[in-house]
Amino acid sequence: MFQTLNKCSTGDCLGSKSFYVQTGDISDLPLLCHYPVKAIYASSDPDYLSCEKKECRKYNENGRCEIRTCSATVTFYVINIRTDIEFVFFAGGFLTPCILRRTLPFQFSNPTAPLYGHLSTFDSSGTSMRLTWISGDSKPQRVNYRNGKSQISEVTTFSQEDMCMMTGLQPSTISNYKYGSDAVGWSKEIEFHTPPAGGSDERNFFIFGDMGKAPFDASIEHYIQPGSVSVVKAMEGEIKNGSIDSIFHIGDISYATGFPVEWEFFLNLISPLAFTVSYMTAIENHERDYAGSGDHYLNEDSGGECGVPHETYFQMPTAAKDKPWYAIEQGPVHFAHQWMTKDMASIDRSKTPWLIFTGTLGNVDDSFRNVVEPVLANKVDLVLFGHVHNYERTCSISNCQCLAMPEKDENGVDTYDNGNYKAPVHAIVGMAGFSIQKFSPFVSDWSLIRISEYGYVRAHATRNELMLEFVNSTSRSVIDSFHITKN
Ligand SMILES: [Fe+2]
Repeated sequence: MFQTLNKCSTGDCLGSKSFYVQTGDISDLPLLCHYPVKAIYASSDPDYLSCEKKECRKYNENGRCEIRTCSATVTFYVINIRTDIEFVFFAGGFLTPCILRRTLPFQFSNPTAPLYGHLSTFDSSGTSMRLTWISGDSKPQRVNYRNGKSQISEVTTFSQEDMCMMTGLQPSTISNYKYGSDAVGWSKEIEFHTPPAGGSDERNFFIFGDMGKAPFDASIEHYIQPGSVSVVKAMEGEIKNGSIDSIFHIGDISYATGFPVEWEFFLNLISPLAFTVSYMTAIENHERDYAGSGDHYLNEDSGGECGVPHETYFQMPTAAKDKPWYAIEQGPVHFAHQWMTKDMASIDRSKTPWLIFTGTLGNVDDSFRNVVEPVLANKVDLVLFGHVHNYERTCSISNCQCLAMPEKDENGVDTYDNGNYKAPVHAIVGMAGFSIQKFSPFVSDWSLIRISEYGYVRAHATRNELMLEFVNSTSRSVIDSFHITKN
């Protein structure tokens, strides 16, 4: 399945290989001038009949074979990417592909349909939410919500995308919306939850990093993250029963790395989550980094995106474009994303007793620690990082030293007493989809739990207690849990 395809020969586009490699994937997809959206081997069909063994399907009256065939059936899961698609049959494998047949372009029945609405919050009031969606039409559309209220959308020009604020909502309530216009059609009516207001007593949320996307069919696609589908399915079950009020995805969002269609695969994947609750994101190397573009690390992990698709699809309450840090309060928790020193010094801890710092690692080294640790001295309770693709939890740590250890409560759950605060607890939560990393056999004494499995963290915050659980997305069971308490 190809988005567009001009040539069969790869000879004229050998340069595309170097671009391919810098996106992080030395993929198995055929290196044609335009990359295929997805591909499936005909031989993956259990009833595949190869052309060496072709069978006679029709005999004439003399008993001679009239029609011989080889055959296979493959099925593609296709989403509306608003552009014509062609199906191309090629032989010669992925290294020397040569086209045998191609279909005429297929058009989607409504290429301008409003798609992939996702919610986020832009202040700590719990009374307003931003809805972002994609449409092939550049004219403003609308979101209709909460008993006849309506807001017109603002169109952003990085590809075709619309955004709408819904204000005048109530915190911690269920409401509904639909979005679109008479010209392009309307989404179905969707029920959603507003988050609790900053300073309220309770909050339930998911937090994880490094998720990405993977195909729903047997296709080979560029740069997939095999665990993402099971992690989303597991979270979807919990979102449906209404027990979660927001999601924090703290970096390495889609791994689209310059392939726009892969943002659409990702948005389609997370739809059942982000339709319903606020889906907050933060930027990491795979969204931002590109040599010579003003980033700190000289690598090409964003495949040339330089943060633009991310900041358009997921507009967070940041200071400005390409200044991607922000803080937000929900329930008794104040969330600060990397480098929010000023913000942290001014937090009213009687309103939000919990301070969680999320960040992304880039390269972990002494210079990184020297910059971050003074920021954490603002009595940060919990530090959550992604980038490393597994789960690991520490003691209360500062400067590589354990300043306090958790104690077991009556159920045997590790409990950190932050009433007697010594240092933040750190956890790596980069296990939501990207191939899981194994740990080195050497274990530092500050490392208490290390798990190489796919999953996500479920968190429950009250004024006196922060409870975190690492849920394995396949078994859906809790495989690590800990409490941080404060009286
Ligand atoms: Fe990552």
